[in-house]
Amino acid sequence: MSAEFSLRSLLSASLLPPSDARILMAHVLEQHYQLPRSALLSRNEMALNPQALTQWKNLESRRMNGEPIAYLVGKRGFHNIELYVAPGVLIPRPETELLVEIGLREVEGLGEAAKVLDLGTGSGAIALAIAHEAPHLAVTATDQSPEALEVAKKNAELLNIASRVQFAQGNWYSALQPDERFDVILSNPPYIASQDERLTQGDLRFEPISALTDHASGLTCLEVIIAGAATRLNSNGLIAVEHGFDQSEAVVAIMKAAGLADIQTHQDLAGHTRVASGRKIGL
Ligand SMILES: C[S@@+](CC[C@H](N)C(=O)[O-])C[C@H]1O[C@@H](n2cnc3c(N)ncnc32)[C@H](O)[C@@H]1O
Repeated sequence: MSAEFSLRSLLSASLLPPSDARILMAHVLEQHYQLPRSALLSRNEMALNPQALTQWKNLESRRMNGEPIAYLVGKRGFHNIELYVAPGVLIPRPETELLVEIGLREVEGLGEAAKVLDLGTGSGAIALAIAHEAPHLAVTATDQSPEALEVAKKNAELLNIASRVQFAQGNWYSALQPDERFDVILSNPPYIASQDERLTQGDLRFEPISALTDHASGLTCLEVIIAGAATRLNSNGLIAVEHGFDQSEAVVAIMKAAGLADIQTHQDLAGHTRVASGRKIGL
């Protein structure tokens, strides 16, 4: 095999940003040779065999076309877990870890029987990150998309926590039993307005549209989720929802109108207000 197919030559000839090229090449090395990422440096004179070379070229051209890295390598790190991801689910975002942190902080003071709900679970990101960190909790994860639930269930199995997470399919709260109540409700619903041009740009073009937008103003799913919280929360229970960087005021107003108390806003690591939480007071 010629030197032109060595890792070093292929990486330096690639038109991809170097960090993307290295992630994709590390994936090829893992798949075809079971080699760790460090082989990118330690074995950079190694030439790829024909099958590995075909996969590299395929991944490189798909990335050049804009396909998200996470779909190309089939995984994404989130909080303290790694999730399998495929085009039927949203790629979990770092800012959503804020919801996980809020949920974990809240259940710390609660007993073994505490119940957590993740509405619109996608890959299972929020529900599984919480179940992974807090083994005593009962966690329920819902989604309207059967495809997303399949991915979430697969992730629960890969993480060996399938027995501790309940999955239910349906439109927001209607996926649940009529009398089910929770101590914490978390949700990262679709909140991009249908007219937002970001939907036609970058990675978003490849993600499921029903995970991104409510096909309306951006606030309609948040309204349904917040309005239904009082009947689904135990007394003193907490709801926390993710929203767009410019939706904080509107979401706080929706929480006030729903009669929630102790309403708080939360900032992500970039300093954007991306989560609002509120509490149910009374029975
Ligand atoms: C923004 S994605 C969030 C996925 C995941 N929770 C995360 O943070 O990575 C929104 C999710 O809500 C789901 N969804 C959209 N409309 C829904 C509805 N009416 N009822 C239940 N789930 C819905 C989508 O299928 C999608 O998985």
